[in-house]
Amino acid sequence: MKNVFSFCNQKGGVGKTTSAINVATLLGKLGHRVLILDMDSQANATSGLGIEKPSIEFTTYQLIVENVDPLALVKQTAFDNVFLIPSNPDLAAADLELINRERREYCLKEKIETLKSDFEAILIDCPPSLGMITINSLVSSDYIIIPLQCEYYALEGLGQLLHSFELVKQNLNNSLEIGGVILTMADFRTNLTQQVIEEVRNYFKEKVFQSVIPRSVKLSEAPSFGKPAVIYDPHNKGSKSYEEIAHEFEKRFLNFEIRNPKIETNSKLESSNISNESSEHSDF
Ligand SMILES: Nc1ncnc2c1ncn2[C@@H]1O[C@H](COP(=O)(O)OP(=O)(O)OP(=O)(O)O)[C@@H](O)[C@H]1O
Ligand SMILES: [Mg+2]
Repeated sequence: MKNVFSFCNQKGGVGKTTSAINVATLLGKLGHRVLILDMDSQANATSGLGIEKPSIEFTTYQLIVENVDPLALVKQTAFDNVFLIPSNPDLAAADLELINRERREYCLKEKIETLKSDFEAILIDCPPSLGMITINSLVSSDYIIIPLQCEYYALEGLGQLLHSFELVKQNLNNSLEIGGVILTMADFRTNLTQQVIEEVRNYFKEKVFQSVIPRSVKLSEAPSFGKPAVIYDPHNKGSKSYEEIAHEFEKRFLNFEIRNPKIETNSKLESSNISNESSEHSDF
């Protein structure tokens, strides 16, 4: 089952966390059981989902560093079908603690394997670096989702990110794919935004999600209310754009009819399953 997604970009403040929590919340509303792993010691996904002070024994620090049952760390959020393993500042020490471990790039993968079958999608909110936590996240993932801010400097760091992606793919996780690129914080009045959108679409083609997230005050103020913007103010333009992204995400990666075969007969289901999978692969 290919259902683990790293929201990853080593550049800070590009919309990784905002994209992960809003897409997760919308997928939850659509009926999918979703787990977010907050792998950033800033714990923005944790507080953005309304969890202020997670109990320090139940965080992604334990998940990656200690020998614990991963399911025991999963916390239910206030949002339908959305579950979380929270983070706290302790996670900052994990990079160092993993240094002397054998197979240190695989510490998270072994834990995630035991969670995969309990959730339809696992979304990992990565930190803004290419350190050991990000490497562990990419090694554990089926897809990388790249949020990119629509500004010139966003493209500058992209080469380095793609180089790391290739290194992980070649050496540590052959099945890692680029799942998609989410263009964020667009200011449609400027030529630069238009140029960045064009350049990114030329390079990544259909991997770029159709909808582009505009700059939106509502998206930026939602975290201070402990709610994803799509719940805090579902009708603003930013939330509407994330709604389109979540639908596209569902269509690309989570086939609800196949997972919940209520209408189709078994034989029809099998054939549609095969054609669907092959068309998905030919698209990307
Ligand atoms: N479309 C948007 N319009 C306006 N503000 C936004 C938008 N998306 C995100 N923000 C705000 O920009 C800041 C950075 O966003 P976010 O935290 O999602 O980025 P990030 O890539 O996760 O950052 P970090 O690298 O620090 O983890 C936050 O204050 C967030 O609320
Ligand atoms: Mg973040």
